[in-house]
Amino acid sequence: MIAKIKKAVIPVAGLGTRMLPATKAIPKELLPVYDRPIIEHVVKEAIAAGITEIILVTRSGKEAIENHFDAHYELEHRLEKKGKETILGTVKNIIPENITVTSVRQSDLLGLGHAVLCAKLLLNKEPFAVLLPDVLVLDQESRDKDYSFTAMVNAWNETGMGQVMVERVGSEAIENYGVADLGGEVSEPFKSIMLKGLVEKPSPKEAPSNLAVLGRYILPSKVLDLLETTIAGVGGEIQLTDALDELLKLDGLNSFETDAGIFDCGNKQGFLSANIAVGMRDAETRTHLIKLLKNSGW
Ligand code: G1P
Repeated sequence: MIAKIKKAVIPVAGLGTRMLPATKAIPKELLPVYDRPIIEHVVKEAIAAGITEIILVTRSGKEAIENHFDAHYELEHRLEKKGKETILGTVKNIIPENITVTSVRQSDLLGLGHAVLCAKLLLNKEPFAVLLPDVLVLDQESRDKDYSFTAMVNAWNETGMGQVMVERVGSEAIENYGVADLGGEVSEPFKSIMLKGLVEKPSPKEAPSNLAVLGRYILPSKVLDLLETTIAGVGGEIQLTDALDELLKLDGLNSFETDAGIFDCGNKQGFLSANIAVGMRDAETRTHLIKLLKNSGW
């Protein structure tokens, strides 16, 4: 029987250097996209796909992230006393009661592979998801907004095969990503295709395709054993991509293309674009934004 995906690792120990000075005192994961921190969007995306245990891989100085998902008795008490029920609801019910948020520390920033490995004990040999918290995946308005990640979890549930979500990017951007080698197979949205290889941050010349790993993974527990012996790769960091390249040669691994809007909120343009895209989905704000952006007097 194929074990269901119940646990999700969210690595949040990063320094947020691309968003300084905004992230000097505030974790980048708590910067708001429209009306809530970006990490809340990501946690909700996980919950919509059936995840019930969120594992934050964090570090000292980023306790505010854990606090965001915890109760805030004083605030709740005061809002209750003032009869501010609607606001109280947004503070109290950030995540449903059956969802647990646990955390583990990453004492040194040795790369994404190392961050995922830090969660090994909590993962307890179960298959799991990884969601990068600075990436917002916003599915097309005609679909459910968390469609892609849910579909990827379903692909695991049906086959028991690990899945790596990819998007098409321009060749000028490819060197910022892990890149999928499909050995000439043609990818299309929402189709799982067997990977032939994964390369971390290749030069545009060496890139095997224009399908970039965007930060959503469904993985078997075995990847954690492989990570234990993965040596530092690109940037001197222990790369998750390198362990996945090993995994796919042993047990197979699929790429899963999405046509959702992908916003890297770890940089200024991506962050601003995400705010506009999410704001456009609120009818009232949409009217305001259209008027604002038409004003050429900036
Ligand atoms: C990480 C991964 C890379 C992936 C990217 C997506 O890189 O190592 O494979 O394509 O996230 O955002 P980072 O952005 O941490 O350098």
